[in-house]
Amino acid sequence: MKILVTGGAGFIGSNFIRHLLRSQRDVEIVNFDKLTYAGNPESLADIASDHRYSLVCGDIVDSRIVNDVFTKGIDALVNFAAETHVDRSIEDASPFLRTNVLGTHCLLEAARKFHLPRFVHISTDEVYGSAPADVSFNEEATLDPRSPYAASKASADHLVSAYANTFGISAIVLRCTNNYGPFQFPEKLVPLMIANAREDKPLPIYGDGLQERDWLFVEDYCRAIALALEKAKSGSVYNVSAGMPQPNLKIVRTILHHLGKPDSLMRSVQDRPGHDRRYALDCSKIQRELGWRPEVSFEDGIRRTIEWYQANNEWLEHARTGEYRNYYERHYTRRAETFSQ
Ligand code: NAD
Ligand code: DAU
Repeated sequence: MKILVTGGAGFIGSNFIRHLLRSQRDVEIVNFDKLTYAGNPESLADIASDHRYSLVCGDIVDSRIVNDVFTKGIDALVNFAAETHVDRSIEDASPFLRTNVLGTHCLLEAARKFHLPRFVHISTDEVYGSAPADVSFNEEATLDPRSPYAASKASADHLVSAYANTFGISAIVLRCTNNYGPFQFPEKLVPLMIANAREDKPLPIYGDGLQERDWLFVEDYCRAIALALEKAKSGSVYNVSAGMPQPNLKIVRTILHHLGKPDSLMRSVQDRPGHDRRYALDCSKIQRELGWRPEVSFEDGIRRTIEWYQANNEWLEHARTGEYRNYYERHYTRRAETFSQ
């Protein structure tokens, strides 16, 4: 099976590619990634020479190169490619609309044109908006995105649904809660707090720090995506979560405790505008229909994550400085320009 993974040099995408190559012998993966600030080929350095894996540097908005890849034959697509950081979307929504909306549209058009058998779209719990206390949204809940990032992801979900309905695209949508684990870019809460605490730098806590997120270890999510790719019925939407929303302050205190650092490193800073208070999903559908369950407890997952960042200081430093771009020049010759020749 030949799988096109878009955005495979990012956090979840790189973990997913590694998961597939480890768990399936008969698989070929084309990683299609623009290598934005968040895309880092070093995250896949250990599998870069696997003959089943190749990287194409390209933009999902560019129909020419997207079509080129499809022309070479694809059995399934998993679309991770996106602008993903809420704070950046508040500063400038344009790249979010471009990649998350127009890029998804471009992939759907290619899927339609080339009669792609399977299109797995990676969405987010943020499309449902903030959940009242004691409410967990199921897949039927109304979409109520509240940040520019969430609005761009909800738009993409609507496009996927419209293309499935209008053109019969065989699409599956996954909406997951916050992931954490190895290879996450250090602008997101967990890796940022680990990186700062290690250096005794202040840890910025937005507002009162009592916003709740339902943290899922990335390997658990990768298993869910692989299951959906293999078994989900066309047209399905699945929520994926750990089922245990926790306040940010508790997450940060746990990280400080593991690192043996004092709570006094935490600094309350101005809140994120429009900050969603709580994300919580009912994921009983994927449990019932695909038999998926989270296997990694938060205690175990956060310990493994902290240990990974401690053991991979070079990756962290390169992510922070952009050094991996030089790595890319040294180790990869296949570029967007040459791919289509
Ligand atoms: P990330 O920011 O770590 O990686 C995004 C990847 O997409 C990068 O490799 C980047 O280079 C690539 N990319 C960006 N624009 C592109 C374009 N125009 N063309 C091709 N590639 C492009 O993201 P992530 O955290 O791994 O998230 C992956 C997906 O999962 C996203 O769609 C996100 O919305 C969704 N999601 C993430 C989380 C989370 O907690 N991280 C939770 C739920 C859903
Ligand atoms: O819920 C899924 C979403 O999770 C994904 O769709 C997004 O792509 C991903 O970025 C993530 O969004 P969040 O906004 O929830 O993640 P972030 O790591 O930015 O923030 C998590 C919480 O921590 C949130 O309540 C804001 C808070 N925060 C974040 C940062 C970076 C802080 O208090 N301080 C910080 O410095």
